[in-house]
Amino acid sequence: MRVQYLAVEAAPLAKVGGLGDVASELPPALIQLGVELRRFLPRYPFLETADLDVQQVASVRVFGRSAEVFAAEVNGVPTYLIDGEPIRASREVYESPDRDGDKFTFFCLAALEACEAMGWAPDILHVNDWHTAPGLLAMSDRRRTGGFWARTASLLTVHNLPYMGAGAEGALANYGIAPSEEPLLPSWARRLPLPAGLAAADWLSTVSPGYADEIQTPEFGCGLEAYLANRRDRLVGILNGIDLKVWDPATDAALATRYTLGTLEARAANKRRLQQELGLPQLQDVPLLGMVTRLAHQKGIDLAILALQQLKKEAWQFVVLGTGETALEDAAVRFAAEHPDRVHAVRRFDGGLARLIYAGSDMLLLPSRYEPCGLAQMIGMRYGSVPVARATGGLRDTVPDYQPGGKGLGFVFGPPEPTAMAAALKRAMETFADRRRWTGLQRRGMRQDFSWTRSAEAYRRLYQRALDRRGG
Ligand code: GLC
Repeated sequence: MRVQYLAVEAAPLAKVGGLGDVASELPPALIQLGVELRRFLPRYPFLETADLDVQQVASVRVFGRSAEVFAAEVNGVPTYLIDGEPIRASREVYESPDRDGDKFTFFCLAALEACEAMGWAPDILHVNDWHTAPGLLAMSDRRRTGGFWARTASLLTVHNLPYMGAGAEGALANYGIAPSEEPLLPSWARRLPLPAGLAAADWLSTVSPGYADEIQTPEFGCGLEAYLANRRDRLVGILNGIDLKVWDPATDAALATRYTLGTLEARAANKRRLQQELGLPQLQDVPLLGMVTRLAHQKGIDLAILALQQLKKEAWQFVVLGTGETALEDAAVRFAAEHPDRVHAVRRFDGGLARLIYAGSDMLLLPSRYEPCGLAQMIGMRYGSVPVARATGGLRDTVPDYQPGGKGLGFVFGPPEPTAMAAALKRAMETFADRRRWTGLQRRGMRQDFSWTRSAEAYRRLYQRALDRRGG
């Protein structure tokens, strides 16, 4: 089974968010299952390829411009890097919508040309988010007239529905990609890469079963709920995994002390180190709450601040690490300035500190307004930090609510409102005070299997279904 996998970021070469983790970790898991997968990425000038053996394998043309195709093996994954003028000019993965539309569409078309040049016809074209939807649109178009792509089935995975590629419509037109003619798609959506891609794709997926259901409702569907509900027999939710080797408190070099399920007491040293680094009082009995996040409206830092303000009388400490929207960064910094003895805001990207927060915090706050999957809650549980999360999307699928009898993995709340979050936090703090119960809860989280193997198996089955139903 041959799979062409397109993405515009993949760790460790280029990573901005969760998509970069998925595009890094899912392909090797699929290859382990025997899938013949080739991953395609843009060769940005800032790509970290110093350690790789990169060979040019083809040179193709896209609308009069030349594109060079390079190949390298990255963590066992045959990876094809596309170079060309629109890609070479980029300074970051995501820039302005029209520039992104141009470079991503160029990338997608070059990736199709590369397959033709190599004589490697995929059984499945698997694209991710709006950025690579143009590849699927162009492939569907070519497939209609038979030839090279005649037997290729397509899958579009949605990692974040609201990002539909607005501003990239002109770029699509420049590359000869026509608006969707799907009558069931709202007319405003037909020129946008993501919705047009959804209409053209043979199969659709999202990164959790919960989000797959939610996007068929007005609250989460962004205006596409009716269309998506109509295609529910072709829409699948597959939960992401995490790399258990990359995220392992037993071997993590960023920690003050490494630990396992059996040596959970050793975790205390990480809490001490974290408090010391942040200049917070070194108290073990006070719950330390952590948040590692993009500071986007989606992630609900504002909800967390308002909820904690309602809990001023309780004892807690709070650290938030992340960058993003200026207004939210400012709100976090202001909150810290108001409570220097218990709140700390770190406005930068810091992988080492993130790991120390997973290992040293008692609770991890995840008040997302929506969450297609979410990786932090899985990492937190593996490190023994208990999630306090909103019941939405992948959070709901991975964090069942704590029940005193010994079930559940965290503390969840329904409405995205400060009062509901404060109530969940209060329950968490009460349970934290009971050492025996708390360590039981931590251990249960650490025992969960969030490995990629299960997800990869689900994708492989979906690919097989797509092959079996090819053309029908
Ligand atoms: C997006 C989503 C996040 C998901 C990630 C990887 O960043 O917001 O929920 O975990 O994609 O699929």
